[in-house]
Amino acid sequence: MNAESIVAVVIGKDRSNQQAMSEVFTSLPGFKVVVESADFANAVQKVETMSADVAVVFLDERPDVGCALLARLKQARPGVFTFAISSDRSAELIVKAIRSGADELSSAVPSIQELLPPVIKIADGRRRGAQGPHSVGEIITAFSPHGGAGVTTFLTNLATTIHRLTDASVCLVDLDLQNGDTPVYLNFKHPYSILDVCEHIENLDPVFLQGTLFHHSSGIEVLPPPPMLEDGESISAQNVADVLNHLKNAFQYVIVDTSSFLNDLTFSVIESAEKVFLLTDNMVPSVRAMQRVVNTLERLGVDMANLQLVLNSPVERSKISTHDITDVVKLEVKYTLPCDSLTAIEAANRGVPLYEINPKSPLVSGITDIGRALTGTNETYDSKGRLFGRFFSDARP
Ligand SMILES: Nc1ncnc2c1ncn2[C@@H]1O[C@H](COP(=O)(O)OP(=O)(O)OP(=O)(O)O)[C@@H](O)[C@H]1O
Ligand SMILES: [Mg+2]
Repeated sequence: MNAESIVAVVIGKDRSNQQAMSEVFTSLPGFKVVVESADFANAVQKVETMSADVAVVFLDERPDVGCALLARLKQARPGVFTFAISSDRSAELIVKAIRSGADELSSAVPSIQELLPPVIKIADGRRRGAQGPHSVGEIITAFSPHGGAGVTTFLTNLATTIHRLTDASVCLVDLDLQNGDTPVYLNFKHPYSILDVCEHIENLDPVFLQGTLFHHSSGIEVLPPPPMLEDGESISAQNVADVLNHLKNAFQYVIVDTSSFLNDLTFSVIESAEKVFLLTDNMVPSVRAMQRVVNTLERLGVDMANLQLVLNSPVERSKISTHDITDVVKLEVKYTLPCDSLTAIEAANRGVPLYEINPKSPLVSGITDIGRALTGTNETYDSKGRLFGRFFSDARP
């Protein structure tokens, strides 16, 4: 599991306190914490230069100076999360520390269990900060009425591509509740799933939600499907809508994998999505099935402007052209993703994104183009993942 980075500065004179605090930080599961020590004199400078996410101030040595320091830290770096640690639990000191800007107060070095929730909140807050004030994320999904049309391949790769292109926060949600295979496509095991989230939906806490996600080495988070086939039945369309709402508040992009059934649940995802990619190949049965889906979505009041038809892995020998598909489905074929079985099979078998198997694959380029169109980025990557599009566009007259 790839850990999320956090920078912490521990401020105080007592070396054993600093050591103990540092040990707790570095033992936090799911996080890679860079810990620096500072004294009262150089603390502000350290917090600024290290762009610290969290500052821990031991107040016991000089409570008044410590409280003044808390205020200066907040002034210098308003986003920093401040922990004040003081054995003095008098109301006077508590009020003073809070007024000075302490976000959290503790009487001793916190345990891992005590420190984990605030650190998760810090990471969550940082993501929201990157997202901009009051903005909510975009829901992107894909659907095909035919099993095996390439929906999971497309979405897992779109999710990692968007993160690679923009560094945006991305959460991939597996709502193929019976046969969800994002854990296979991304090669991971995780003890939590959407089932745990739905069980706590009434009082869903962002810290709890964050704790249920799997942090994949590509940089995206994944909410896995339920572990047992039958578990999916207890998850309602309303549950799903609530979960997606929570995730939209924490991530810039929420990418939702679906099953090939157009049921209440899938419909609720499609209805709430800003972009819905409809995947088909160029065989008559697939195109006819897609025609029925599009008709149904239109009848049910889905905004047709959100739908984007994608011809995935066209069969060479089929005589059905993109024009024919457009004619039948009454939607323009917006993108064509070529067949690249070599890359797709190797990626699926190894549980890695297509890009890691062959960055030059036309299938990778096709998905990257869609990622660019979604995010408004024009960068192009070479085979080693280096940016060169901006260089070319700058060089052109
Ligand atoms: N453009 C492509 N070229 C070659 N193979 C592809 C392409 N897209 C998907 N595949 C392959 O097709 C198979 C099915 O893909 P995938 O599991 O993504 O489909 P799905 O629609 O999610 O299926 P399911 O209905 O089972 O969830 C996989 O073996 C995958 O590697
Ligand atoms: Mg799938």
